[in-house]
This record gives sequence, structure tokens and C-alpha cells, in this order.
Amino acid sequence: MDEDRQSEIRGAFDAAAADFAALGRYLWESIGAAAVAVAAPGPGERVLAACCGTGASAMPSARLVGHDGLVDAVDTSGPMIDQLRRLAADLPQLRAHRADVTTWAAKGYDVVQSALGIFFFPDMTAGTDHLISRARPGGRAVFTIWRGESMAAAGRHLGRAIAEATNTPPPAPRPPHLVDQVNQAGSYADWLTERGLVDVDVTELDATTLIGSGRRAT
Ligand SMILES: C[S@@+](CC[C@H](N)C(=O)[O-])C[C@H]1O[C@@H](n2cnc3c(N)ncnc32)[C@H](O)[C@@H]1O
Repeated sequence: MDEDRQSEIRGAFDAAAADFAALGRYLWESIGAAAVAVAAPGPGERVLAACCGTGASAMPSARLVGHDGLVDAVDTSGPMIDQLRRLAADLPQLRAHRADVTTWAAKGYDVVQSALGIFFFPDMTAGTDHLISRARPGGRAVFTIWRGESMAAAGRHLGRAIAEATNTPPPAPRPPHLVDQVNQAGSYADWLTERGLVDVDVTELDATTLIGSGRRAT
């Protein structure tokens, strides 16, 4: 993925931060809660919440690890991190960082999780491998992606509707992406297994979302 596309994605999330938190109740929070139920962080554990946005999965994880645990919540978008700091003011065990998580240095986490984030990495495979390497041996990794065409189709319809309403040309189709090849339960499980995870499992959350999980080999 080129640098222009990366800065386009960053700009979109910076601009969306306030609406993103408001949308959470209807969209991100239920997906985040389901992903956290799979990751199941326990009291005192250390969690890396990658691509945390405004905290739909980072905050429930912070509640579960409690005051003796730690959640490092990482996002490249400053406005997302600002919102998260405001929303998580009563969760001192959650530390929000503005950073590129594909170069995050700390490691040894009990849980590494990313809800709807890994397909934004410039190299989805290398970025996900880096996240897995941040887990301790035997630690859990939980990565949520859109299932099938669910979000791509919604984006296309929205783009066409906006173009029609504003009398502007419809947006160019999104270029092909690795996620298009691994967005079904079986292919996603295979791809996660290729990443070196063991005990891989994929939970289908309704028609829209896949929650992939596994443990880093010991
Ligand atoms: C769709 S949002 C998901 C947010 C959150 N996990 C949730 O479920 O509400 C994707 C997030 O990934 C972040 N992101 C994309 N690439 C990133 C990277 N390399 N490092 C950290 N965050 C990244 C974006 O800024 C955005 O906030």
C-alpha cells in the first residue's frame, strides 16, 4: 500500500473521530464486546489493544484486567486517542498511545487484540506477524475482520448514493487487497495458522464479522 493511501486512511480516521465514538453504541461496541469475550483477558493481565480507535474493545478489556492489569491501547490517529483518553478517564490501567502499532516495541503481552484494524496495515501480513510477536509465548491473539463483502458492499452503496445526491462522480473502486482472499472463516483460519498461531479458531459474528483467535506457539 503506498504512502498516499496510508495518509488518506489516517486523514479519514482523524476526521471521523467524534462521529466514530457516537456510532460506537450501534456498531463498534457490540463487535468489540464479542472480540473481548473471545480474548477473555483476566485480572492482572497485560493487553495490547492495536488499532484501538475510541476504545470499543480496549475499554472492556481494561475493565476485565482491573487495576492490577494493563492495557496499552495504540492508534495512529491523534483525535481517536484524544477521544479515548476522555472516555477512559476512570480507567487508569488503560494507557492510550498515539503510535504506529506495526513498529510497537514492547512485548510479552498475555493478549494482543485488534478489532477491525489489521487490514489497514500497509502490509497486512507483516503487520499482523509483528502483533503476534508482541504476545508472550502461549499468549492469545484475537483479530477481527469484516466477513466477505459486508463492509466493501456498504461502502460502494454509500459512495454511489453520495455521488447521486451531490451530482459528483462515484468514488473509484477500492484496489484488490489480501483481505479479499481471507474474509471467509476457512480461509481466515488458514491464514492465521500460517502466521504460526496454534489452536486457531474463527467465530462468525452474524453475517458481517469474523473473530479470529489463536495462541502464540510456546
Ligand atoms: C475501524 S477502526 C477500529 C477501531 C476499534 N478497534 C473499534 O473496533 O472501534 C480502525 C483503526 O485502526 C487505526 N489504525 C490503522 N492503521 C494503524 C496502525 N498502523 N497503527 C495503529 N493504528 C492504526 C485507525 O486509525 C483506526 O482508528
